[in-house]
Amino acid sequence: MAQHSLIRPEGAASDWTIPQNWAAYTAEDHATWDILFERQAALLPGRVTPEFIAGLDVLRLSKPGIPDFEELSERLMKATGWQVVAVPGLVPDDIFFDHLANRRFVSGNFIRRRDQLDYLQEPDVFHDVFGHVPLLAHPVFADYMQAYGEGGQRAAQAGVIEKLARLYWYTVEFGLVRSGDELKLYGAGIVSSYTESLFALDDPSPNRIGFDLRRLMRTKYRIDDFQQNYFVIDSFEDLLDQTLNTDFGPLYAELEGQADIEIETILPGDHVFTRGTQAYARAKAA
Ligand SMILES: [Fe+2]
Repeated sequence: MAQHSLIRPEGAASDWTIPQNWAAYTAEDHATWDILFERQAALLPGRVTPEFIAGLDVLRLSKPGIPDFEELSERLMKATGWQVVAVPGLVPDDIFFDHLANRRFVSGNFIRRRDQLDYLQEPDVFHDVFGHVPLLAHPVFADYMQAYGEGGQRAAQAGVIEKLARLYWYTVEFGLVRSGDELKLYGAGIVSSYTESLFALDDPSPNRIGFDLRRLMRTKYRIDDFQQNYFVIDSFEDLLDQTLNTDFGPLYAELEGQADIEIETILPGDHVFTRGTQAYARAKAA
């Protein structure tokens, strides 16, 4: 994940990478990974898109516990030409886009504490690696992530990152995908969270509406709790095609004059899979 105006920590390289320092993880760190991994690996079959389950094997390395990025990158490189590099936490947007455009996925090297299994504000190695890496082993999704990074580099130069960030949020982090008559999970923010893996598919509260790039880029999102709205793609192929075949320059100009859409709003043209009750968000707000 990326963020504006951060100061590079001492010891990080100019591209913000640091050594993962795998030998420094404690037995407790590895045990936390194993607990989280087993819990999600048991919960997700049937809920998550099959490409994610196929990609999970790339995380099953020669040693148990937190993956050693060197071995992980070797395996991922063979699958799709991607690598995983360690960073201290959030990195600036331009650094983030540059890594993605060069098929490097940045991961926090720390892991949450045992009392934070269900919620952590900053992305840790479990979110970054378990959530993101399995789909990076899928050729089409791997291409989409690179295309996003290249789009980000152009958006950064044009000063229009905010709208593009919504695309990342509503696909890479919190996306759902159609599978016949059913919906499946694929967003990393969902699949790395036990509670949101249940909420995103089963709860009547959130809206679930069809992916529409223009509409999505006008839609606000929330970073502090379960989503109130999920966008549903048809397939990874369609997501990649739309991203590659859209001329984002004119699109940003077009969107400039249009108002943002509130998270819970459903518009007349939306393809509605679920008209959410928003009961969860209302109860939280009250
Ligand atoms: Fe993420």
